Amino acid sequence: MVTSSSSRWLDVLGIRLPIVQAPMAGISSPAMAAAVSENGGLGSLGVGAMTAAKARETIHQFRALSSGPLNVNVFAHKPAHADSKKESAWLERLNPEFARTNAKAPTALHEIYTSFLVDEDMLAMLVEEKPKVVSFHFGLPGQQQIDALHKAGIVLLATATNVQEAKQVEAAGIDAIIAQGYEAGGHRGMFDPDVEDTRLGTFALTRVLVQSVKIPVIAAGGIMDGAGILAALKLGAVAAQLGTAFVATDESLADAGYRARLFSDAANHTVMTRVISGRPARSLANDFTRWGARVPNDSVPDYPTAYDAGKALNAAGKAAGNTGYGAHWAGQGAPLARALPTRELMQALAKELAQASA
Ligand SMILES: Cc1cc2nc3c(=O)[nH]c(=O)nc-3n(C[C@H](O)[C@H](O)[C@H](O)COP(=O)(O)O)c2cc1C
Repeated sequence: MVTSSSSRWLDVLGIRLPIVQAPMAGISSPAMAAAVSENGGLGSLGVGAMTAAKARETIHQFRALSSGPLNVNVFAHKPAHADSKKESAWLERLNPEFARTNAKAPTALHEIYTSFLVDEDMLAMLVEEKPKVVSFHFGLPGQQQIDALHKAGIVLLATATNVQEAKQVEAAGIDAIIAQGYEAGGHRGMFDPDVEDTRLGTFALTRVLVQSVKIPVIAAGGIMDGAGILAALKLGAVAAQLGTAFVATDESLADAGYRARLFSDAANHTVMTRVISGRPARSLANDFTRWGARVPNDSVPDYPTAYDAGKALNAAGKAAGNTGYGAHWAGQGAPLARALPTRELMQALAKELAQASA
């Protein structure tokens, strides 16, 4: 079942199936995105944690594997505010966890990624490389950046978690909205992590946005199979964006500890936490999230500075044989994850969608 508004929009994106593989910084790979695009969906690369040069190289790796459409995703967050007192207190708080892994906390933290808001090299690279689609997470870039990408003929998407954000996305001239429900794995795309989170689920959010904005809506959060994709289309979405469903594919960059946890009871216990990176994100329950449950939110340094500590703790844990400190992002649909080559997952999703629609 592809509605007529969905099918028009799929033509714009050059895709046959209403399936967007979510961009997943650190997890999606050129091989994953290529397998999605070669099998009728929109493959995505999450380059939010890369330099422009590395992102360009990654786009070229995709192009060596597929001439299909590509979505390149960047982070449009407010740059971190350095606060050495808060960061030192945070490291002190984390020290006992580092000690459990026979390591010491670093002595200082850094803002490990550049926000797209201030990354002129990334903008210039995207304008040159012209991927079919560019998507924004955590907010919107400046109007000049939006206009420059549009002028290059690029279709633009942005995540919204509530109606206010969706209206801003529409007003900025973005072409379509990713409606990210509270079930979703990974970082919550909310523009300001310090305002009250309305925590709308994918069902309600998709429906509310379809009714309140004129641009197309792509539903994201907890969608794991053809029945879920069909449900999103029935709610008025033009497509579904799936992240967790791709985490255990052969082409995913997820490590062995992450994969093992995804197929354990932890999949039944995903939690929203900000201690790993500095922004709320949904993760499989692990040692880090359990520790974080006792930590006040306002003690966590800004994103992505806190992530510098989170990554160091994960590396120390892994070196000591403890995989419990990873950023094990996963949505509430985690128990439905499948370990398959991406091509086979795409074929299964297409078949399930056709069967559910019959
Ligand atoms: C491992 C992982 C990494 C993610 N990284 C990004 C990212 O870099 N950029 C982005 O826009 N969304 C990212 N997301 C969120 C997805 O875009 C999407 O909202 C989410 O995966 C949908 O929920 P689901 O995981 O239940 O399918 C990530 C999600 C996961 C699971």
